[in-house]
Amino acid sequence: MNRLPEIERSHRDRSLLIHVATPGSSDVGGAEFRQLAADTGAEILDLWSISRTRLDPATCIGSGKVQEIAEFVRANNVDLLLFDLPLSPVQERNLERACAARVVDRVGLILDIFARRARTHEGKLQVELAQLDHLRTRLVRGWTHLERQRGGIGLRGPGETQLETDRRLIGERIRILKERLARVAAQRGIQRRARLRTPVPTVALVGYTNAGKSSLFNVLTANAQYAADQLFATLDPTIRRLAPEVAGQQILLADTVGFLRDLPTELIAAFRATLEEVNEAQLLLHVIDAAAPDRDEQIAAVEEILADIGADELPRIRVFNKVDLLEDIPPARRDVDGQMTDVWLSAHSGEGVDLLRKAIVARLRQEPLRLQCTLRPEQGALRARLYQLACVLEESFATDGRQFLQIEIDRATWAGLQKHYGAESCQREDLPSTMRP
Ligand code: GTP
Repeated sequence: MNRLPEIERSHRDRSLLIHVATPGSSDVGGAEFRQLAADTGAEILDLWSISRTRLDPATCIGSGKVQEIAEFVRANNVDLLLFDLPLSPVQERNLERACAARVVDRVGLILDIFARRARTHEGKLQVELAQLDHLRTRLVRGWTHLERQRGGIGLRGPGETQLETDRRLIGERIRILKERLARVAAQRGIQRRARLRTPVPTVALVGYTNAGKSSLFNVLTANAQYAADQLFATLDPTIRRLAPEVAGQQILLADTVGFLRDLPTELIAAFRATLEEVNEAQLLLHVIDAAAPDRDEQIAAVEEILADIGADELPRIRVFNKVDLLEDIPPARRDVDGQMTDVWLSAHSGEGVDLLRKAIVARLRQEPLRLQCTLRPEQGALRARLYQLACVLEESFATDGRQFLQIEIDRATWAGLQKHYGAESCQREDLPSTMRP
């Protein structure tokens, strides 16, 4: 098993976790937050769950609670307060002063985990950029009384000592990082195009963090891959071949970063390039922890992010993992074309994995549809997408500006496009068989 080199940490931050429950918050009781914090290696002294209907602009939790926390910090030698929500720079500073402990918010916490998990050059650059962006707004006087050289959660990473003193250097560093990222992205684009030219279909594993993507990736590729009971065990896509004896044809499998609810928007932007690769896949396997108590919320969170990166139209199989933890296993579900849409399996016991392999192969081998699609001039985005998918065989124009595109496309992709662009925008006529080559 390829283990990631763990960042050495001589000091474990003595931490108090503050989970702020607002009406409608999804992580009831802060279980996911506790897991996130545990991933950073912090020593967790306690988790306080504070209910708030309205967040205080100065301290988020109100002065009474701040007082209580300050007392706890004093009595227990707390180094670090971890908050389970994004704090404004002002809130963070006020809390640090009032409680005399370092404060890291949810964004800082996730960035810390990203920093520990980033494996590829591009992933590391993206994390560094996001960290600098996050810290830039927090560079204010009054921080220097805190012990910032030691390293630790929210502090590890790029150029801490410069961060304390020099915004200009940060700006410069950000500029260099962006340039490097642009170069890396261009390089990645070249590699991806080369891959697209070879007719090897790609299947991307996506899913909520800890759903078991890496475990399933290992099983399907029969290769060692880092998998641990830690959130974000994978950050950058890893591409391997689906075991060849399964397919009889080559199929590539890509593992991707685990998704999280309420992922701060600036992080989504930072990892967009990483997730971009999802868009080139012919098929998505949405891996779901079937035993998670908040399974439906996790599914919805993933759907939302997929829509956000424009991947909601891609054909998809929902893979309910960890059935070894369930008492009853529902049957696999199929769509109208007989293709499997839901598969229940266990990456650990191997139960159901063969069924998934068959479902993948069947989905990728399905006969494509050939049809003529009539587009109005304003439907340029759909036209561009059809070209991007390399499924246009011929195109002609009517005098009123309408375009007739003969396309060859697999059913699932077509269904996805209809869903994404609206069924009425994808008017189709099936081509007569005489027109088929
Ligand atoms: P991230 O990289 O954080 O997104 O996680 P991931 O989705 O890649 O999950 P990973 O494969 O690292 O598995 C997460 C945890 O679930 C690990 O502790 C696995 O051992 C466990 N796990 C994975 N598959 C199964 C399964 O089929 N059954 C059970 N009981 N546990 C599983």
